[in-house]
Amino acid sequence: MKNILITGGAGFIGSHLVKWMLKKHDYKIVNLDSLTYAGNLQNLTEIENHPNYHFVKGDIRDEALLNEVFKAHDITDVIHLAAESHVDRSIENPLEFINTNVLGTVSLLNVCRKFWSENYADHLFYHVSTDEVYGSLDDGGFFKESTAYDPRSPYSASKASSDHFVRAYHHTYGIPIKISNCSNNYGSFQFPEKLIPLMINNIKHKKPLPVYGKGENIRDWLWVVDHCSAIDVIFHEAAVGETYNIGGINEWKNIDLVHKLCEIMDEKLGREKGESAKLITYVTDRAGHDLRYAIDPTKVETELNWKPSITFEEGLEKTVEWYLENEEWMRNVTSGNYMAYYDKMYKDR
Ligand code: NAD
Ligand code: TYD
Repeated sequence: MKNILITGGAGFIGSHLVKWMLKKHDYKIVNLDSLTYAGNLQNLTEIENHPNYHFVKGDIRDEALLNEVFKAHDITDVIHLAAESHVDRSIENPLEFINTNVLGTVSLLNVCRKFWSENYADHLFYHVSTDEVYGSLDDGGFFKESTAYDPRSPYSASKASSDHFVRAYHHTYGIPIKISNCSNNYGSFQFPEKLIPLMINNIKHKKPLPVYGKGENIRDWLWVVDHCSAIDVIFHEAAVGETYNIGGINEWKNIDLVHKLCEIMDEKLGREKGESAKLITYVTDRAGHDLRYAIDPTKVETELNWKPSITFEEGLEKTVEWYLENEEWMRNVTSGNYMAYYDKMYKDR
């Protein structure tokens, strides 16, 4: 029996991973999340009463709390996702990203060291990272595991720093670690400050669709559930100390993706062809906007036999349908009602 601490399990990817792990394995899953604006317990209602599931509201920087959690639940493994994750916010407030993404990761590593150092062989610290640590592919090519780090936003610099600390704790203290660096995720339960849910919501409400710069930046999109299946296979089958890049070879220029979403939404909402695209509005570019991200997934595909389960077309259809069917979720996260609810529910922490 493993007792896995998943950090950030109330966020977008974390909530999918909690559900995935409970469905696929008979492990105890402890979800530690401080419920920032991006964390939402409504993402987890379908498993909130699962006998193997425990939620703890708390901050990964709170070592006293981490000690309590490790002791109370006899934590054997950590899958670490808790982070500040939005590039635009990192441009506004870099320190918050350093605090959570760097200091928070180091706090967790310290506690793992304290509890596990007697028998490291039975434990694992799995760090979920991003392809953005590799910088921007302005001249072609793909991100490989051997690509030199070249982070260029405060967000990616903080994630790169956390990756370095995870490797440093492996080399210096012997903590067993694995790291994966994934491309952009999309799917249900993603906070609508990120491109795809933001566009879906704005199209629905006939609001302007803010495309940064000329819309020529390229991202490599992967369905969030396929990210979870990759984490599962790496967690169980990869060798300790290894790094894997995760992606589905699926590059899209932002403007083409926004047009595709407009087409799907026109059809689903019974609008005339081309109607939603009229909402596209070019706005001032993001500062330091990385031009292109693209993952070479050869290592995870050939060594671990992982592949995405669905095509982008299927994934986008599913995603649009989910947001259209879950208006209340969207209304809640955009109205801020759920934050007021947490303040009331957890006023002591
Ligand atoms: P998210 O912003 O949706 O969720 C982050 C979660 O972490 C939230 O539930 C939040 O409440 C929690 N959190 C934040 N600060 C915390 C703290 N100090 N203590 C405890 N909990 C805290 O992010 P996401 O998109 O689900 O990303 C999860 C992880 O995956 C991040 O580490 C991110 O860097 C990485 N990642 C994301 C993508 C992507 O496309 N979204 C791609 C590759 C890697
Ligand atoms: P985002 O979802 O923020 O992910 P990331 O910056 O981590 O890749 O943005 C994806 C791309 O979409 C990125 O090139 C910025 C662009 N973008 C817009 O053009 N308009 C928007 O409103 C947002 C949120 C993003």
